Amino acid sequence: MHFVPENCMLRAILKDATGTAFVPGAKRKGSMDIETTGKPVTAATLLRAKQDDQKMIWLTAYDASSAQLAEASGVDVLLVGDSLGMVCLGYDSTIPVTLNDMIHHTAAVVRGRNRAWVVCDLPFGSYQLSPEQAFENSVQVLQSTRCDAVKLEGGVPMAETIRFLAERGIAVVAHIGLTPQSVKKFGSYGRRGKSQDEREALLLDAAAVCEAGAVALVLENIPHDLAAEITSSVSIPTVGIGAGPDCDAQVLVWHDVLGLSESNPPFAPAYAGVREVMKDALVRWGDDVRQGRFPG
Ligand code: KIV
Repeated sequence: MHFVPENCMLRAILKDATGTAFVPGAKRKGSMDIETTGKPVTAATLLRAKQDDQKMIWLTAYDASSAQLAEASGVDVLLVGDSLGMVCLGYDSTIPVTLNDMIHHTAAVVRGRNRAWVVCDLPFGSYQLSPEQAFENSVQVLQSTRCDAVKLEGGVPMAETIRFLAERGIAVVAHIGLTPQSVKKFGSYGRRGKSQDEREALLLDAAAVCEAGAVALVLENIPHDLAAEITSSVSIPTVGIGAGPDCDAQVLVWHDVLGLSESNPPFAPAYAGVREVMKDALVRWGDDVRQGRFPG
């Protein structure tokens, strides 16, 4: 059973850069290879990629130099995640991260980007109080960083807020499944959606945020078949992290994919061992200083 309200599909009738209306699922003539156009990525680009069955690459970034490197490697979307708190700021969860932390790092990422779409996580406490609070803080983020979109955690309970923002012109990315800002409530970073009740709740969450006007949906740490079902049931692109291969896009945390973290979540393989490379360089430099070999 799918839970997609009809107007969820209607909302997704967008116009591309030429002003031509298109609907996900309907093949358009002459669609371009998005990766090679070099044009700035927009919300419409992401939707068209879903329609064209083209995977988009999302990656977290927290500063200008990582933004530049990510873009040079073909990343389409730079997500300034509130994982910032854990991988850069030394906190043991994302809960202490403030709006000012997010603004500071997002502005740096925007300075380093050229064509990528930049999304800023709204941190814990900056949007849950009311749609008005979420609007005020989103405006502050968008105006002071010049990023493209905000992301917030939650499904059905956040639908009214997403609608409030979307109707006022803000691009909102929703995030369901494992939602780290609720770790104190759930007690762990474990997989969500394992029981039938949780599956049904997540399907309702996905439909609700889509119908409310979210432009993309992050699915974190849920069963792969559930992510596949959600992906085929909503008209907006899904972005998977620990959610299997059938999502429209994939996202990983910068430190995890490069092997900078001390340990990775089971669903996030390291594609390099950068932590060891950096440590080795620093140890050799320190030795050279101690032995009088540096400066030469
Ligand atoms: O904060 C973050 O980095 C995120 C991603 C893991 C999706 O929300």
